[in-house]
Amino acid sequence: MAVDDPAPVSSRSDSRALACTDLVKSYAGVTVLKSVSLSVAAGEVLGLIGENGAGKSTLSSILAGIVIPDSGSMTLDGEAYRPHSPHDALERGVALIHQEIRMVPALSVAENIFLGRLPTSGGRVDTARMNREAAAALEVLGIDLDPRRPVRGLSMATQQGIEIAKAISRKPRYVIFDEPSASLTAHETDKVLGRIEVLRSQGVGVVYISHRLEEVREVAQQIVCLRDGRLVQAWQSGRVPQDDLVRAMVGRDFTFEHHAPEPARDRVVLEVRGLARADAFEGVSFSVGEGEILGIAGLVGAGRTEVVRAIAGVDRFDRGEVLVDGEVVSLKRPTDAIAAGIVMVPEDRKGQGLLLGRSSAENICTPWEKSLGRRGLVTRSKIARIAAKSRTEFDIRGSLDIPSVGLSGGNQQKVLLAKWLVRTPKVLILDEPTRGVDVGAKMAIYEIVRRLAASGVAVVVVSSELEEVLGLSHRVLVMSGGRQRDVLDRAQADSETVMQLAVPQASS
Ligand SMILES: Nc1ncnc2c1ncn2[C@@H]1O[C@H](COP(=O)(O)OP(=O)(O)OP(=O)(O)O)[C@@H](O)[C@H]1O
Ligand SMILES: [Mg+2]
Repeated sequence: MAVDDPAPVSSRSDSRALACTDLVKSYAGVTVLKSVSLSVAAGEVLGLIGENGAGKSTLSSILAGIVIPDSGSMTLDGEAYRPHSPHDALERGVALIHQEIRMVPALSVAENIFLGRLPTSGGRVDTARMNREAAAALEVLGIDLDPRRPVRGLSMATQQGIEIAKAISRKPRYVIFDEPSASLTAHETDKVLGRIEVLRSQGVGVVYISHRLEEVREVAQQIVCLRDGRLVQAWQSGRVPQDDLVRAMVGRDFTFEHHAPEPARDRVVLEVRGLARADAFEGVSFSVGEGEILGIAGLVGAGRTEVVRAIAGVDRFDRGEVLVDGEVVSLKRPTDAIAAGIVMVPEDRKGQGLLLGRSSAENICTPWEKSLGRRGLVTRSKIARIAAKSRTEFDIRGSLDIPSVGLSGGNQQKVLLAKWLVRTPKVLILDEPTRGVDVGAKMAIYEIVRRLAASGVAVVVVSSELEEVLGLSHRVLVMSGGRQRDVLDRAQADSETVMQLAVPQASS
């Protein structure tokens, strides 16, 4: 399909803008950015969209001095701009906010904000000044928080807010947000979008990257779309019909709608009775039938991940029991769960999921090495065969033979799924299965989940995207503050009902 020529995005090198012209970047002979030119003006939000692997993070990393382009040029408020390190970029006023939040839990909010550059006077840390300046940065963003308290225990959204405060405490003129909302709920995302609006109104130029197109439409004054490393379309407004954005991303017409899963059978596969762990969750009891998809909804911090980690043998629990096919499973470690047929795809693809230094093919085969190989040895050709199959099935873009760190975020997510689905489990637990995944890949993942369920697998899906939980599940379990509030049938489970149950109850 022919794509309209991109509307020229002027390189306003003479006005207040961060601009790049003809940026090119290749990795090992593969060109991932192909002559990209764009600019974001001061006091404007530029939405940057594109499929997984389109080049969004690479472009942001270049703007923020983390990656050096092969060719092309950049200007910052009309002057030549060639950052050679993130520090250099920050000094010039360009900050990048990553998707992954990296705070030190034991340190205070203010210490985290000033990490690596604590203000000193007379050779000592000037704590009073640090706290004062941290408080000021938080106030600008409307975050009501004591800068002296430790970061430990704060919600993801609040930590994201501190991350933003950290960036703005350096008074940047341009801030790039690379999928800041991937791990946030809708309510929390609204807060982040509000904070971006504050920055914009103060004259900061913002680049906003997200796979959630509604957010981009809401926050951006201009939108550009990358496809396969090329800038394929630009819009001079944020109010672009969603279908147009999707078409530009995937290069064809695309409809995205949920359809009801096939009916589940009556036979119970997974049963959880009275599961509890002190200070984490309690009273969790539910069952999942053969072919059934049970969604678990709730706000960040409601205890959803804790519960499924316990069921998967990753964390312990104090009370209750877990049964598979009517038999109580002793769950001391993850291998116990796997032996009982329970497999969990964790939410954190970096920490618990993938060995980023190893190839994706190896990652996919690691858990199965013992069972796949003759006398415990998996041959290279077998690894290659399994990997090739996963690649087609999960539509993984990028080489599976290079270390996984070289894949885009969304494609890493697909590798993670592929890894746990080499063998069909009895019970499949998915924690945030589509985090950071583009629309096309999302559809593919939903299809896979429905297909697995239809083949008899009992599926549990934890997701912060309400639409995802409601669209996929036969029934929805809602948690709030570590407690199970209710289990709703698909017909009852609309977003309003779920949200009402999910918001924490005033403790009586
Ligand atoms: N360090 C690296 N080594 C090799 N290839 C890389 C490296 N970093 C990125 N790539 C490749 O560059 C391409 C663009 O990746 P990038 O991370 O910019 O995509 P993205 O648009 O941010 O995708 P996502 O939405 O999944 O985050 C991908 O094909 C990726 O595999
Ligand atoms: Mg990315």
